[in-house]
Amino acid sequence: MQYIQLGKTDLIVSRICFGCWQLSPRFWGKVPLGPWRRAIDRAVELGVNFIDTAGAYGEGYAEECLGDYLKKRKLRDKFFIATKFYWNFKGKARYPETTYAFTISECEDSLRRLKTDRIDLFQIHAWDPLTRPEETAAALARLKQEGKIRWVGVSNLNVEQIAMYRQFIDVECHQPHYNLLAREPEEREFPYCLQHRIGVIPYSPLYRGLLTGKYARDQQFTDSRANYGLYTGRAFHRILDALDELKAIAKPLKLTVAQLAIRWVLTHPAVTSAIVGIKTPEHIESIVPAADAPLPAPTWHQTAEIMQKAREEAEAME
Ligand SMILES: NC(=O)c1ccc[n+]([C@@H]2O[C@H](COP(=O)([O-])OP(=O)(O)OC[C@H]3O[C@@H](n4cnc5c(N)ncnc54)[C@H](OP(=O)(O)O)[C@@H]3O)[C@@H](O)[C@H]2O)c1
Repeated sequence: MQYIQLGKTDLIVSRICFGCWQLSPRFWGKVPLGPWRRAIDRAVELGVNFIDTAGAYGEGYAEECLGDYLKKRKLRDKFFIATKFYWNFKGKARYPETTYAFTISECEDSLRRLKTDRIDLFQIHAWDPLTRPEETAAALARLKQEGKIRWVGVSNLNVEQIAMYRQFIDVECHQPHYNLLAREPEEREFPYCLQHRIGVIPYSPLYRGLLTGKYARDQQFTDSRANYGLYTGRAFHRILDALDELKAIAKPLKLTVAQLAIRWVLTHPAVTSAIVGIKTPEHIESIVPAADAPLPAPTWHQTAEIMQKAREEAEAME
């Protein structure tokens, strides 16, 4: 496993981060806990030391499952835990909130669910239109001072929004949506993060599994992916055709298409670690080899061009 410093922090993290969103039944249906727990064990054995979750995943369920298992197996110190706050799901309606009081109470709730005394990276999940950044930052500063969180990160923000928080608190990490089918962060967010030495941990590096190339042409998704354009009909088939082209690039490199997709993400110099959504030990075992030497530049560009063309054509078909 390769390790790398996360931004300017003292966290030396594995380049593969274990993503826990899969324990959100609303999006992923009922994911069996037995294989998921074995995946945690395998992750430790394979040297993965970075794990990403959120209060909102299953409305506390993902954090509870993680906290229970890490406590039972005495694995808390094997991982840097990144979690997020933002969604207020305590009432009937679910809505964004990053007020001072909510930020403090969400941290307390996450600590309780995770059964730990500290969160290594506490991330603002997305932009809250109704709270001034200095208010959220004041709460985060208090949590840092109390030792309840170690570092602050953000997710799903643009450069202006990150800069606004940075006026009031150090932001060490950004978590954007980035993969071969979604390259928007390359334009402004990545140069900004490179300039300010902010770590970058992209989510959905496999485009929620699509970039593994493992699905049959007649695959019917029963989870939330059934609602995404690129997962159905002609658009889905156009992407699968492009993934067949990637197989020819992956093979001489002795990579699977999934590994090529992850290595492609990790080759960008702004990227610290890729957060891969894991359900089974096989998922983590077969993705770890992706964290190796960067792709040669011609291969990186060729891969990008194939998928860019496929995305444009697929979107026109949706
Ligand atoms: N900040 C945010 O707003 C945000 C949003 C989304 C996700 N995230 C984080 O990022 C993580 C990853 O994102 P994601 O779950 O959307 O997408 P992803 O990592 O792109 O895809 C996950 C899916 O890929 C498949 N997969 C994973 N490893 C595999 C392997 N080795 N071989 C074959 N298939 C494999 C599985 O699909 P099957 O289920 O079909 O087997 C899995 O459910 C999440 O768990 C979460 O921690 C953050």
